[in-house]
Amino acid sequence: MKLTRNNFTRAACIAQSFPYPKFFGAQTVSLTAETVTNYSMQIPQAGYPAHDARNVSNLNFCNVSIIYTHPGQHDSINVQVWLPLEDWNQRLQGAASGGFLAGLTVAPMAGALSDGFAVVSTDAGHKVEDASTWALLSPGNVDLYALQNFASVSLNDAAIIGKSITESFYGQRPSRSYWNGCSGGGRQGLMLAQRYPDAFDGIVAAAPGINFNIALTAGMYWPILLERKGQVPSPCEIYALSLAVVAACDANDGVVDNIISDPDPGHCKFDPFSVVGQTFDCQGAKVKISQAAALGAAAGWDGVRAANGSLLYPGVNRGALLNVGLNSTCDSHTGKCEMVPFTYSTQWVQYWLEKDPNFNWTTLTMDDFYRLWRLSESIYTDMTATNDPDLSGFRASGGKMITWAGLADPAVPTNSSRNYYEMVEQLDPDVRQYYRYFQAPGVQHCGGGNGPYPGKAFESLMAWVERGEAPDVLHGVSLPDANGTVYRRPICAYPLKAHYKKKGNAALAENWECT
Ligand SMILES: *[C@@H]1O[C@H](CO)[C@@H](O)[C@H](O)[C@H]1NC(C)=O
Ligand SMILES: *[C@@H]1O[C@H](CO)[C@@H](O)[C@H](O)[C@H]1NC(C)=O
Ligand SMILES: *[C@@H]1O[C@H](CO)[C@@H](O)[C@H](O)[C@H]1NC(C)=O
Ligand SMILES: *[C@@H]1O[C@H](CO)[C@@H](O)[C@H](O)[C@H]1NC(C)=O
Ligand SMILES: *[C@@H]1O[C@H](CO)[C@@H](O)[C@H](O)[C@H]1NC(C)=O
Ligand SMILES: *[C@@H]1O[C@H](CO)[C@@H](O)[C@H](O)[C@H]1NC(C)=O
Ligand SMILES: *[C@@H]1O[C@H](CO)[C@@H](O)[C@H](O)[C@H]1NC(C)=O
Repeated sequence: MKLTRNNFTRAACIAQSFPYPKFFGAQTVSLTAETVTNYSMQIPQAGYPAHDARNVSNLNFCNVSIIYTHPGQHDSINVQVWLPLEDWNQRLQGAASGGFLAGLTVAPMAGALSDGFAVVSTDAGHKVEDASTWALLSPGNVDLYALQNFASVSLNDAAIIGKSITESFYGQRPSRSYWNGCSGGGRQGLMLAQRYPDAFDGIVAAAPGINFNIALTAGMYWPILLERKGQVPSPCEIYALSLAVVAACDANDGVVDNIISDPDPGHCKFDPFSVVGQTFDCQGAKVKISQAAALGAAAGWDGVRAANGSLLYPGVNRGALLNVGLNSTCDSHTGKCEMVPFTYSTQWVQYWLEKDPNFNWTTLTMDDFYRLWRLSESIYTDMTATNDPDLSGFRASGGKMITWAGLADPAVPTNSSRNYYEMVEQLDPDVRQYYRYFQAPGVQHCGGGNGPYPGKAFESLMAWVERGEAPDVLHGVSLPDANGTVYRRPICAYPLKAHYKKKGNAALAENWECT
C-alpha cells in the first residue's frame, strides 16, 4: 500500500533530545544519538522479511542507541532506534533477526527505514550469536536471565523503548506499531502476540521457530539415529534424494515447474527405498543411492519418534532439502562419512541441556536423546516454546497477525506452523478474524526455493490493520527459473490451497484459484 509521508518538526538528533525511557523493572544506563547520512545497502530477498530484494541508498536518519539493565540481573541490553530525518510514515517497526540473535541486524532495519518507518531493534543482551559467549554463567550454570531476555522480556522492552524514543523525536507517538520477523523473528512475533498482546498492532511471524526448545533438541535425533545404525549417507545422496522426490511429485498439480503444490504424503507418494542402487547426478559427479540414504530420507520425512513409535516432532516436507537435519561429511580418502548435526542443535544440547562447554555429541545414545528431550521440555517450554494457543489477549487488543511458511522449508518443518495454527483454531474458531496462516509451495526457509515468494506479505498485513482488508491470499512471485520464467501465484489462506485451473499459462496468477 502507498504510505502517505509527512514532514514533521522534529527534535535535534542529539542525546539531550531524548529523556531516558522509564519503565517498570528497567533502568537506562546510557543513551547516544548521532546523525547518519547517505546510508546504503543491498538487501537480498527476505533480508527484510516479507519483502522482495531491494537496494536502499541515501537514507538519512537519527541513530539513537540505548543501553539498559534490569537491576539485579547484571544484564546489559543494547537497543537501537533509527528515526528517519525526513518522510517519517508515522509508524514504528520492530526489526527482528534469527538463529540465536535477537536483532540489531542491519538489513531488516535499513529495509524498514527505507519505507519511512521509525525502527527499533534489540540485541537482548548478547551481541554475538555463538552460544559459547552467552549461554552459561560458568560450566554447569545456565544464564537464565540471558535466555529469558532472548526469548521474551527484551522484546516487550524494545516496543516500549521504540515508542518512547519515537515520541521524543517527532512529538507524537507512532500511529501504528508492527513487528516483522521470520524464523527466530517469527518466534519472537508469536511470543509478542501470546505474552505482550499490546506491544504491536500488527505482526508478521513467518516460518516461526516455534517449539524452540524441542525443535533444537529434535535436530540431534537423525544424526544419532543414523550413527547408531552405522548407516551414514553422503551429502550428495541426501541432496539427490531431496531432488528425486520433486521430480516424482512435480506433475501431480498439473504443471511441471519443479514445485510440489501439495507435499503431504497422501498426495506426494514416493518411496526412497525404490531408488536404492540408482545413479543420480551430484554436482557433476555420479552418485549411487545407498540403503543408508533411503533410511535417512525416510526418517527425515517421518519426523522424530518416541521409543514406542509415537510422533514427537514433525519431519520436513517432501520437496524440502533434507540436508539440515541430515547433514554429513565424508573423508575424501577413506570415503567414510559422519553425520554433522545442525549447529544450533549442537549448541542447544551442549550449553542449555548438558551445560558443558566440553560436551561431545558423538557419545550420545538414543536413551540419552530421550532424556534430553524430557529435560528440554520440562525446563524450557514456558520460557521459549511460543506454543501457547490462547491468543485472546491479542484478539481483544485488536491485533492482527500473519504467519506464512514455505512448504519446502528445510529448517523448520512446515507442519509445526500448521499444527500451531490448528491449535489456535481449536480454541477459537473465529481465529481468522485476527490471525491467518499461509503455506507457500516450493518456498524454503523464509525465502528462496523455486516457489512464488510472498514479497508483499507485510503490505497485506498493513492493509488488514489499517483498512480492515483481511488477506485471503498473499501474492507470490518466484525468482526466474532456468528458462527465465517467473511464476506468479496466489498463496492461499489455510486451509485453502492454490489449484491450477487446468488451462492457460501456469505462470500467471489468474490461472490459479484457491479451493
Ligand atoms: C552516497 O553514497 C553513494 C554510494 O555509496 C555515493 O555514490 C554518493 O556519492 C553518496 N552521496 C552523497 C551525497 O554523499
Ligand atoms: C542491487 O544492486 C546490485 C549491484 O548493483 C545489482 O546486481 C542488483 O540487481 C540490485 N538489486 C536490486 C533488487 O535492484
Ligand atoms: C548506531 O549507533 C551505534 C552506537 O553508537 C553504533 O554501534 C552503530 O554502528 C550505529 N549504526 C549506524 C548505522 O551508524
Ligand atoms: C509413547 O511415548 C510417548 C513419549 O514418551 C508418550 O507421550 C505416549 O503417551 C506414548 N504412547 C503410547 C501409546 O504409549
Ligand atoms: C503434516 O500434517 C498433515 C496433517 O496432519 C499430515 O497429513 C502430513 O503427513 C504431515 N506431514 C509431514 C511431513 O509430517
Ligand atoms: C553440513 O556440514 C558441512 C560440513 O561440516 C558444513 O560445511 C555445512 O554448512 C553443513 N550444512 C548445513 C545445511 O548445515
Ligand atoms: C568427539 O568424539 C569423537 C569420537 O570419540 C572424536 O572423534 C571427536 O574428535 C570429538 N570431538 C571433539 C570436538 O572433541
